[in-house]
Amino acid sequence: MQILRTHVPNSANNYNHLVYCPQTRVTAAVDPFSAEHLIALAQANNLVIEQIWVTHEHHDHIRHVHKLKELTGAPIFAPSTCQAKFEADHWLDDEQQVVLGRHSITHLLAPGHTPGHSVYLYQDADRPSEDFILSGDTLFNAGVGNVKSGDANTLFDTVMRLSKRLTPTSRLYSGHDYLVTNLKFTLHHGPQNQAAAETLLAVEKQSPDQRAIQSWHEECRYNLFLNLDSDQVKHITQIHETNTESTRRRFLALRQLRDQW
Ligand SMILES: [Fe+2]
Repeated sequence: MQILRTHVPNSANNYNHLVYCPQTRVTAAVDPFSAEHLIALAQANNLVIEQIWVTHEHHDHIRHVHKLKELTGAPIFAPSTCQAKFEADHWLDDEQQVVLGRHSITHLLAPGHTPGHSVYLYQDADRPSEDFILSGDTLFNAGVGNVKSGDANTLFDTVMRLSKRLTPTSRLYSGHDYLVTNLKFTLHHGPQNQAAAETLLAVEKQSPDQRAIQSWHEECRYNLFLNLDSDQVKHITQIHETNTESTRRRFLALRQLRDQW
């Protein structure tokens, strides 16, 4: 399974993705903000959009979902937990496989950012360097999604679950370009975070389309929400105990700090 990421210029800095089977060129478009933009990208790469995958119900993720279906005839696949929010052709459950050409991807329900959110996880035990996750607005580079229309406790549970599933080489493809902003937040609260400083230096001059794709291994080096028991996060949140409940409390406190920043 291969993946193309494209930045769709808009105020929310959305990334859209095309996932495709390299043998058959059969392609899925993910969270279409702009049907025209995705069709042009598909044509330029000799790809045929035959499926549309959705991670959640927010307007900027389903804006052109029906327009893209009209233009391509591709059916819409979406989490079963979004059935009351919009129309789709296939409602996906937790752990359900979605076949694309000669490959398949795992759909996981991932509530937190919204109650209906899901992610798409690709893993190949023979070629782990090809692993990736389409995380929508659940996991971001150097951060996690907001919970304005969701629940932080639920998001914590989802992040913990995904952390156990992701391989170090998994590449993170999220729904927005927030890497630079999130690294600046990280450094604001901990200028000594060397991994964050090095990454910011490497990526901040890049355009959103050039921005380096980060692996899960790299994320685990600087993403505060993945290092909840670190001295930096204990210091930021002033929660120093070491038990599961304190880890959760640090996540909630960190999420609040990011909201206020
Ligand atoms: Fe969202």
